Amino acid sequence: MNSRRSLLVGCGAYLPERILENSELAKIVDTSDDWIIKRTGIRQRHIAADGEFTSDLAIRAAHDALVKANMARDQIDLIVVATTTPDETFPSTATKVQAALGITKGVAFDIQAVCAGFIYALTIADNFIKTGQSNNALVIGAETFTRLLDWNDRSTCVLFGDGAGAVVLCGHENTDEVASYGVLSTHLHSDGRQRDILYVDGGPSSTGTVGQVRMSGKEVYKHAVSKLGEVIDEALEFNGLSPSDIDWLVPHQANRRIIESMAKKMSLPLDKVICCIERHANTSAASVPLALSEGINDGRVSSGDLVLFEAIGGGLAWGSGLVKIGQPV
Ligand code: UT7
Repeated sequence: MNSRRSLLVGCGAYLPERILENSELAKIVDTSDDWIIKRTGIRQRHIAADGEFTSDLAIRAAHDALVKANMARDQIDLIVVATTTPDETFPSTATKVQAALGITKGVAFDIQAVCAGFIYALTIADNFIKTGQSNNALVIGAETFTRLLDWNDRSTCVLFGDGAGAVVLCGHENTDEVASYGVLSTHLHSDGRQRDILYVDGGPSSTGTVGQVRMSGKEVYKHAVSKLGEVIDEALEFNGLSPSDIDWLVPHQANRRIIESMAKKMSLPLDKVICCIERHANTSAASVPLALSEGINDGRVSSGDLVLFEAIGGGLAWGSGLVKIGQPV
């Protein structure tokens, strides 16, 4: 048994002001509000303003999470930002967040696992805390993903949005009092053989350009349903739990049909699933913490609840995480 554990003590979010409705997209590409809603569940997405960068979104979400956690900035000694859309190729977006928050100790770095990024970042931070390398971590998923879109490609441009979500993980001795709280497990996977079904056709070393998203939607959909199902089972089996033990499924928000099929697989009623795809679309690494933040803010998710995260994205990379929210009072 680990002698330390990571308690999730705060969650924050930020969505850019501008909202783009499906009806506006229908003026740009050959699509319709009806098609987008039926096939994906998306009605609108937020779009970052000109001059508003991923770091700006991440800083706002981080600030919100620190306030909710009632934690002073100088207690944070690890910042992990999951993003596929960093402000610049280097330095990391995380170091910008660190500077903006006035934090001068500890480490800050980005990780890149596209839509699975938040669960990858959570895993890394949890392990830093468990090994004693860090005490308190900000784990952020932040994206200006719409900047990677080809606005002439209706099969991708209707699917994504911008936003950021953040959680504060607090290191604690693994006493009896907190033993059932915090990050109970994370399970990560990747399979590089599937890289061609979801990728960006550019990059600093290949084309010298940023590139645009390319996706074989049906293929990704099939992998998503099977791999997310497997990684949910893995989390439950590892913890000796059954689906009925889960208070909330907080899934990646890529397609409402995928979310519903995970709920069905778990025999979980839809009112036990946090679904915000309708308003956010797919915000990649930000989608899971944005959904968690919404669930906490509207009073559905509360301290002591057992929450299951899952996500899959380009790579393919996917994972799950099981967390008991908050800490004993
Ligand atoms: O976050 C990373 C993980 N990503 C995902 O999990 C996404 C997984 N994939 C999906 O969510 C779905 O595959 C999509 C929403 C992307 C597409 O839904 P689909 O039911 O798989 O549609 P499809 O790609 O098979 O296309 C069906 C039809 C095609 O027309 P034809 O060939 O039947 O005439 C497409 O050309 O729908 C057409 N289509 C559209 N029509 C109107 C594709 N995009 C659009 C559109 N508006 N935006």
